[in-house]
Amino acid sequence: MENLDNLREEIIGSVRKAAGLDALEEIRVAELGRKGRITGLMKGLGGLDPEARRAAGAALNRLKDEVAAALDAEKSRLADRALDAGLERDRIDVSLPIRPESEGRIHPISQTIDEVMAIFGEMGFSVAEGPDIEDDWHNFTALNIPPEHPARQEMDTFYLPGEKDGHRMVLRTHTSPVQIRTMLGRKPPLRIIVPGRTYRCDYDATHSPMFHQVEGLVIDEATHFGHLKGCLIEFCRAYFGVDDLPVRFRASYFPFTEPSAEVDIGCKREGGGLSIGHGEDWLEILGSGMVNPKVIENCGLDPARYQGFAFGMGLERISMLKYGIPDLRTYYESDLRWLRHYGFAALDVPSLVAGPIP
Ligand code: DAH
Repeated sequence: MENLDNLREEIIGSVRKAAGLDALEEIRVAELGRKGRITGLMKGLGGLDPEARRAAGAALNRLKDEVAAALDAEKSRLADRALDAGLERDRIDVSLPIRPESEGRIHPISQTIDEVMAIFGEMGFSVAEGPDIEDDWHNFTALNIPPEHPARQEMDTFYLPGEKDGHRMVLRTHTSPVQIRTMLGRKPPLRIIVPGRTYRCDYDATHSPMFHQVEGLVIDEATHFGHLKGCLIEFCRAYFGVDDLPVRFRASYFPFTEPSAEVDIGCKREGGGLSIGHGEDWLEILGSGMVNPKVIENCGLDPARYQGFAFGMGLERISMLKYGIPDLRTYYESDLRWLRHYGFAALDVPSLVAGPIP
């Protein structure tokens, strides 16, 4: 029995000193395992007489239980210690200031498209779209621009490589082909605007090879020039935010409209600056006209029954004028400092306030 007390002390001592879970497992195997020391002593009981066997057996069982309990206790103490160390290591300091997050900005061209959509949306226009890669017929011929027409040269068209049959697709030079697609695909009355990308081989402070236009088209049975004027005056005043903005219609020429008019707004040029509104000067901002009966006919509609008006303008141009952005090329340089300066907070987008256009 004395020996057992020593043994207990020795085992419990080594349990307390165990460095980790592996060491504890080694002790368990060495003492209580199949070939362990205590197991060996149990096996030796068979050689004792019954009385001594009972007493020694009880003492050995107690020792076995005590060792098992000490192992369990030490195991859970080690686990607690590991948990505490982990918590200490991974502690989150909720009082730290947040990382500086920079807020995103809406690009001025997106803002301008949204503003234009919101204004025409209020007037009952819906949005139509067409492909950037067009065929010659939609981009030119159907719009009354036949192959030899000088307007083709003026447009600095990008042509794609020729197809097998010799015809060449183009990057659309204006959004006007969507007029054709809409008249072919839908029944009048029509009232659409078409914001989208357009392409011309041109590059300077007011031109970029890719730019944006918005096209407008109204086709109905009794549409006249007064509707064109009312609609575009209303748009110019709403877009530039000047209630009595002077708007002038100047006779012009486009193959797809007859008569045609360019639209100018009043402005003042002073000391190198430009202010939109009242003044001696005029600034051209868009092209328009009554849809040429030939175009209506090209789309399979009867020009004796249907008339309408159309208009088109450069979105970068009206955006530069409104927001005082001097160089069109900067729109596409992806300079974050520029975007932070000229961009808009997300909630400034008018279409989110006005609601989507049906
Ligand atoms: N497509 C013309 C251009 O790119 C703009 C234009 C002028 C569109 C008059 C029209 C219009 O619909 O009626 O220069």
